[in-house]
Amino acid sequence: MELQNPASWGFWSSSKSNILLLSLVLVAMNLSINHASATNQFRNETDRLALLEFKHQIKNDPYGLLNSWNHSEYHCNWQGVTCGRRHQRVTALTLTRYSLSGTISPHIGNLSFMKFFHLGENHFYGEIPQEVGRLFRLIFLNLSSNTLGGEIPIHLSNCSQMLSISMSRNRFEGKIPRELGNLKKLQNLYLRFNNLTGEIPSSMGNLSSLIELSLSYNNLEGNLPEEMGFATSLTKIGIHVNKLSGMIPASFYNISALAVISIALNFFSGDLPNNIGLIPPNLQSLEIGDNKFYGNIPLSISNASHLNILDLGHNKFHGQVPSNLGYLGSLKILSLTQNILGSNSKKDLGFMESLANSSMLNIVDLSGNNFGGEIPRVMANLSYQLTELHLGENHLSGTIPEGFGNFVNLTYLDISQNLLSGVMPSDFSKFHNLQRLTLQENRLSGEILPTLCNITTLYHLDLAKNHFEGHNMFDNVLINCQNLQLLYIDQNILSGAISPQFFELHSSLVNMTIARNIFSGSIPLEVGKLTHLVFFNISYNNFTGEIPITLVDCSNLEYLYMQANFFHGTIPQNLATLKSIQELDLSSNNLTGKIPIGLEKLQFVRYLNLSFNDLEGEIPTSGIFRNASQISLTGNNKLCGGIPELGFPNCPVIKGNREGKHKVTIVLSTVLPFAVLVLGTVLFYFAIYQKKVRRNASLSSMPTRV
Ligand SMILES: *[C@@H]1O[C@H](CO)[C@@H](O)[C@H](O)[C@H]1NC(C)=O
Ligand SMILES: *[C@@H]1O[C@H](CO)[C@@H](O)[C@H](O)[C@H]1NC(C)=O
Ligand SMILES: *[C@@H]1O[C@H](CO)[C@@H](O)[C@H](O)[C@H]1NC(C)=O
Ligand SMILES: *[C@@H]1O[C@H](CO)[C@@H](O)[C@H](O)[C@H]1NC(C)=O
Ligand SMILES: *[C@@H]1O[C@H](CO)[C@@H](O)[C@H](O)[C@H]1NC(C)=O
Ligand SMILES: *[C@@H]1O[C@H](CO)[C@@H](O)[C@H](O)[C@H]1NC(C)=O
Ligand SMILES: *[C@@H]1O[C@H](CO)[C@@H](O)[C@H](O)[C@H]1NC(C)=O
Ligand SMILES: *[C@@H]1O[C@H](CO)[C@@H](O)[C@H](O)[C@H]1NC(C)=O
Ligand SMILES: *[C@@H]1O[C@H](CO)[C@@H](O)[C@H](O)[C@H]1NC(C)=O
Ligand SMILES: *[C@@H]1O[C@H](CO)[C@@H](O)[C@H](O)[C@H]1NC(C)=O
Ligand SMILES: *[C@@H]1O[C@H](CO)[C@@H](O)[C@H](O)[C@H]1NC(C)=O
Ligand SMILES: *[C@@H]1O[C@H](CO)[C@@H](O)[C@H](O)[C@H]1NC(C)=O
Repeated sequence: MELQNPASWGFWSSSKSNILLLSLVLVAMNLSINHASATNQFRNETDRLALLEFKHQIKNDPYGLLNSWNHSEYHCNWQGVTCGRRHQRVTALTLTRYSLSGTISPHIGNLSFMKFFHLGENHFYGEIPQEVGRLFRLIFLNLSSNTLGGEIPIHLSNCSQMLSISMSRNRFEGKIPRELGNLKKLQNLYLRFNNLTGEIPSSMGNLSSLIELSLSYNNLEGNLPEEMGFATSLTKIGIHVNKLSGMIPASFYNISALAVISIALNFFSGDLPNNIGLIPPNLQSLEIGDNKFYGNIPLSISNASHLNILDLGHNKFHGQVPSNLGYLGSLKILSLTQNILGSNSKKDLGFMESLANSSMLNIVDLSGNNFGGEIPRVMANLSYQLTELHLGENHLSGTIPEGFGNFVNLTYLDISQNLLSGVMPSDFSKFHNLQRLTLQENRLSGEILPTLCNITTLYHLDLAKNHFEGHNMFDNVLINCQNLQLLYIDQNILSGAISPQFFELHSSLVNMTIARNIFSGSIPLEVGKLTHLVFFNISYNNFTGEIPITLVDCSNLEYLYMQANFFHGTIPQNLATLKSIQELDLSSNNLTGKIPIGLEKLQFVRYLNLSFNDLEGEIPTSGIFRNASQISLTGNNKLCGGIPELGFPNCPVIKGNREGKHKVTIVLSTVLPFAVLVLGTVLFYFAIYQKKVRRNASLSSMPTRV
């Protein structure tokens, strides 16, 4: 599995320093004055003119916020404007979430007393004027969530009092200015979700007050500079989803304040230093997934006792997982997915025992490794707070132990692609919140747990490629799973029919794949109730009957596979109105009649297989029928025509072209009168003869009268 977007784990949202700043803002606003009682003699014309110029550049103000910015009103009373009590100069401009659009006027630089400048969540566009660098008292700048572009102004580095810069979620491009390293007091720098390129300037290491640095979701490249280690106050660094590479400099782990390291989805490489656990003692989150790290997971990692997110997924870590990993008592998320951990041996999951101590565990993802042996029974002792457990794509064997049912809050259980055998444990029905259960590609057998659908929350069930058997599971088991959207039970030994009720109760189905079983019976007309269906694969079964004409009601259907069954009758004419169909396979059935008219007009169809049926008549030549590589019609001996590449015989001329028609008319017009004449003569003589015979017959049959 792919772990969720690291940004969504929420560690940025509970930022202490943000709270600090916010309270600073509030204090500043309380000290300021907004009352109309302020005497006009203190008005500063410079500020008023600058504000008017600012207003002038705002082209759209849907909430009419700036209506109050008029001449009859003292500018310190204008909405969003805050002035200092004593000097009556503008100290804060706060216009957030008003859908304002326009450019930022350079005259803003004249508001020389401004400390707080907050235009977040509007539609400002264009570039930030360099004049912002004249705001030498500025301590807080928030321009995030706009559509500002261009480069980050170098002159911003003149704002030497600056504590916090937020310019996330814009369209800034170019490099991060080296000069920002001059902002000695800067605590927070947020530039994520832009299009910044180039390297992270080494001057960032000079930001000795920096607490939070977020440069995620850009196009930054190059190394993490060695100098970063000098930013000794750095507590949270988020540079995930960039193109950064190289090793993590040793100095970096020396930053003892570090609590959050989020560098996932880059091209970093190297191994983790063996003493990583010793260095940042407050480390809470280590997210280095989707990089090119290798080597062992250092034993010392268990010293990072505050760790609650450990994401090492999608790297090349190998060897055994440290058996003391579970001493990380605060651990909530553990992802080791897609590495080369374990040695396909019994001891591989030995660390599970210690993990039972991590009572706050939420997500455990061990999928896609080299773990072997059986699933340890102790696994059932993991935290009951578990919401996701992934063991897929390993070499686990033996049976699935009882005990998983204890995880009442589990929403996703993935044990797919292992070598597990035996039956589905009976306590699976105890899950209250399970939404996804994926057990595909194992050797599980027996009947599907009859109470499985006690889990009413289940929407994704994948049991494909096992040895499950049993009759009428649609009616006996699945009928109660009424929120199913994705159902994969293909390649088992399941049998029986699909009842009309099943379709009636499962209109939520989006993907239904039941191919390669021995299901039989006909497809009920109620299949048309599956209005959300996109993918329907019932191929390689023993289905009989006709293709239901109601399939056309599945108006979202894109993939329809019904091949290798015993369907007979004609292909419903209305299939040609399934607008969204892309792939259609009805091959190897016993279908008769003609290819429906209009099939060639379907816009999205790119694969059509009607081979090995008993179809007849003329093959169309337009639409998909123009492309021999996208269609297959072989094994229908009564078809004719079509494009020559298909190799079917020409159709016999019935109506033919105009010339042919003409010939027929000529022939008829000369031959017909003669034929009529001959026929007339014959009939005449025949009638006379008949009369004679009948008379003789009637004579002979008459009772003899005396
Ligand atoms: C208004 O501000 C300007 C520029 O800072 C300054 O030169 C001027 O003296 C101020 N005027 C008053 C009345 O404070
Ligand atoms: C801002 O200051 C500059 C330079 O001092 C001046 O040219 C400009 O007119 C001022 N703008 C306003 C709106 O006062
Ligand atoms: C000026 O703004 C004030 C305060 O919002 C408002 O009451 C007044 O109607 C406005 N005047 C004009 C001419 O728009
Ligand atoms: C900046 O503004 C955005 C959008 O209004 C907001 O979500 C964010 O928390 C602000 N940042 C700071 C540091 O206040
Ligand atoms: C920023 O400082 C530099 C160097 O002191 C100066 O040349 C530049 O004009 C300043 N920029 C602004 C916008 O004040
Ligand atoms: C980011 O910049 C690259 C290269 O300049 C450009 O191709 C891409 O479209 C930009 N992306 C966005 C979201 O602006
Ligand atoms: C960091 O600051 C020091 C002292 O101000 C300066 O000498 C050095 O050049 C700066 N480093 C970078 C990379 O800007
Ligand atoms: C399950 O989740 C619910 C709601 O989120 C929570 O109240 C409950 O404590 C959880 N149960 C366990 C065993 O973690
Ligand atoms: C399944 O649900 C039924 C009805 O809600 C209940 O009677 C039964 O005990 C449940 N079975 C299990 C194994 O949870
Ligand atoms: C449906 O399932 C099949 C088989 O697993 C898969 O290939 C396909 O992408 C799925 N399609 C949709 C729309 O879910
Ligand atoms: C399914 O069809 C195959 C092939 O005709 C046949 O051998 C088999 O007995 C059928 N199975 C069932 C359960 O109908
Ligand atoms: C196809 O139908 C014909 C005639 O009904 C029947 O003889 C034949 O056995 C059927 N073939 C298959 C494979 O069902």
